[in-house]
Amino acid sequence: MAKIIDDKPRPTVKDRVNTAVGDVQGSQAWSSIFRPGSIFRKGYTDSPRNRSYVIMNSVLYHLHPVKVKRHAVKVSYTLCLGGLSFFLFILLTVTGIFLMFFYRPEATAAWNDIQNLQTSVTFGLLVRNMHRWGAHLMVLAVFLHMARVFYHGAYKPPREFNWVIGVILLTLTLLLSFTGYLLPWDQLALWAVTVGTNMMGYTPVFGQEVRFVLLGGAEIGSETLLRWYVLHVLFLPFVIVIFMAIHFWRVRKDGGISGPL
Ligand code: HEM
Repeated sequence: MAKIIDDKPRPTVKDRVNTAVGDVQGSQAWSSIFRPGSIFRKGYTDSPRNRSYVIMNSVLYHLHPVKVKRHAVKVSYTLCLGGLSFFLFILLTVTGIFLMFFYRPEATAAWNDIQNLQTSVTFGLLVRNMHRWGAHLMVLAVFLHMARVFYHGAYKPPREFNWVIGVILLTLTLLLSFTGYLLPWDQLALWAVTVGTNMMGYTPVFGQEVRFVLLGGAEIGSETLLRWYVLHVLFLPFVIVIFMAIHFWRVRKDGGISGPL
């Protein structure tokens, strides 16, 4: 009997993998996730149009304009100080959430909780120090960022509104730092806050009222701790995130980073 010979070449493993990848990339589910211009789309080509799409269709990249000035992406221009301030804020949020698992804002518990955190909790000392150093560095980074903006004259129109937002961000950063200072409930914290709130007592007209509101009573105590804790972990971060969003949005709307025309 004659043998039937199939002269069609059998697909190799590579061919089969390519077909499977093509099927997945051509599916509706895939194209609903990866929008036009994505490098993961079937038949992606490196064209100016697709490059624009990559920026426009990405949740993170779309914060940047599709076209940027060449000098603006140079690290030596901004020294990435604004980005660094933001990165430190994220770091402080993550480490701060870790600390919240082990800390109670009560006068009888706070100091012991910090001691236990440092001595008995795995990575407790490390994370506490990351939070503390991160806070110092954020104040420094924000200040240097402000100095950089001033040096480049970027506070001038059309960026004067963003400068004002920046001043609010600086104030909020300092307030976050100061409210966190009380939380270990040690002698240093106690007296720093006593001195700080006494100074605020000299505010014209409403001095005593301001002091009372900040202390949650006539003198520093558990009420102060609770008040400053809520300000530190909830209220101030919430407000600063809103102002950061406005700040970043304005950088875009004011025509991107300043610089030579
Ligand atoms: C939490 C604090 C802050 C964060 C996270 C932040 C973040 C940023 C970022 C990411 C940029 C883009 C360019 C760059 O990295 O330099 C920027 C630009 C800018 N920031 Fe800030 N910033 C903060 C505080 C401030 C302060 C304190 C000021 C001034 C008082 C300020 C004024 C400005 C201005 C005017 C620009 C536009 C600069 C330009 O076009 O060259 N910012 N900021």
